[in-house]
Amino acid sequence: MKKIIIEPFKIKSVEPISINSRIERQKIIKDAHYNLFLINSKDVIIDLLTDSGTGAMSSEQWAGIMRGDESYAGSNSFERFNETVKNIFGFQYVIPTHQGRAAEKILFEVVCKEGDIIPSNAHFDTTRANIEFQNAIAKDLIPEEFKNTQLDHPFKGDMDIPKLQKLIDDHLDRIPIIMITVTNNTGGGQPVSMKNIREVSRIAKNNNIPLYIDACRFAENAYFIQQREDGYIDQSIEDIVEEMFSYADGCTMSAKKDGISNIGGFLCTNDEELSNRKKDLLILTEGFPTYGGLAGRDLDAIAIGIKEAMDVDYLNYRITSTSYLGRKISDYGVPILMPPGGHAIYLDAGIFLSDIAKEQFPGQALACSLYIEGGIRTSEIGSLMFGGNAPHELVRLAIPRRTYTQSHIDYVVEVIKEVYDKRKSIKGLKIIKEPEFLRHFSAKLTTIE
Ligand code: F0G
Repeated sequence: MKKIIIEPFKIKSVEPISINSRIERQKIIKDAHYNLFLINSKDVIIDLLTDSGTGAMSSEQWAGIMRGDESYAGSNSFERFNETVKNIFGFQYVIPTHQGRAAEKILFEVVCKEGDIIPSNAHFDTTRANIEFQNAIAKDLIPEEFKNTQLDHPFKGDMDIPKLQKLIDDHLDRIPIIMITVTNNTGGGQPVSMKNIREVSRIAKNNNIPLYIDACRFAENAYFIQQREDGYIDQSIEDIVEEMFSYADGCTMSAKKDGISNIGGFLCTNDEELSNRKKDLLILTEGFPTYGGLAGRDLDAIAIGIKEAMDVDYLNYRITSTSYLGRKISDYGVPILMPPGGHAIYLDAGIFLSDIAKEQFPGQALACSLYIEGGIRTSEIGSLMFGGNAPHELVRLAIPRRTYTQSHIDYVVEVIKEVYDKRKSIKGLKIIKEPEFLRHFSAKLTTIE
């Protein structure tokens, strides 16, 4: 094996990046009221806002787009999609949706009632919002020691088993399903071990509670299991994925992540009655069950993308590239959530900018500095997003799939180091205008002089 891991693809179509100057970016961010969601992508040099729907499709996927069958019912595209999803995940019923949160909405509308509790290792924010929309409670069961951002652990996405057992002992009749998110996005893109999935499944079965997996980054999770968990190094990603999902009764999926597609998702289940009720709801908002809010061509792109996401050379390049970014900056002294995640690196802005109080949004101040210094767009996951309840002040650098090359990553490393060297000169921010809900998307801020 050679030491240098290359991008296992050639580039056939390119999208230009326009390089603006520091002075221009200072004006752009000021005009956007220090909110990176209010900046146009043409003004961004490296866009690490999300890894969702931002990946590059392969030539095979584009060929699939042309093959797409746009028949309203029973399209060939659906047949190909249905077959592939069933083969990979092993569930009996597959319901396409326009993205992950639509699958979540339908799932919780069917299984949840007021006062129910849905435990998870950590719910993503749309999952939480869809549970709360049913007046139910979304409960994260993160082991206490994993809340320390500096702790290095191979499976920091694992669910706390004693906490799950206690919750079931206390509230069995209020728990309609259990969820596991692979990888744990909210907790740093950290993987969940097979041992943990098996254990959660055993407890779920003993108590007759269905287990659903939030499968968004299933292939990345499988790669971590292959590399880090005893007994899996010689198993294929396909076999590991099959085992992971064999412990579950269903899953929700955003194909915008490990489906390497620009849009799409699905909901799977083994329960025929539930599947029928879910399909009835699907028709109300998403469309007929053989297209579910997607074009036939999208179904083909997803069917090809989820297979490509399991290619071990691709996964090796992807996870190594993310970890290269994390290790390079952390060796320089930059505080990151340890260990590096699969799809993203999270800077710990609470430590990075320790002189800036929580009330002055250190995460957002850091995100704005990365933009000014190098045109890098990231997202704050801290006090601006969660208010006073934020457990940490993080800045997420989410890496789109197959989109950026090694030199882009080296550029990001250089910019972060420069910002780190100047950290004492970075100023906090204050809000001048905010909406009632989800303020991070549209709040207007200004610097504190
Ligand atoms: N579950 C997880 C773990 C996610 O990360 C996301 C989306 C969803 C569900 C919802 O899927 O966007 O297709 O409706 N995460 C994106 C992100 C938005 O930037 O992390 P969706």
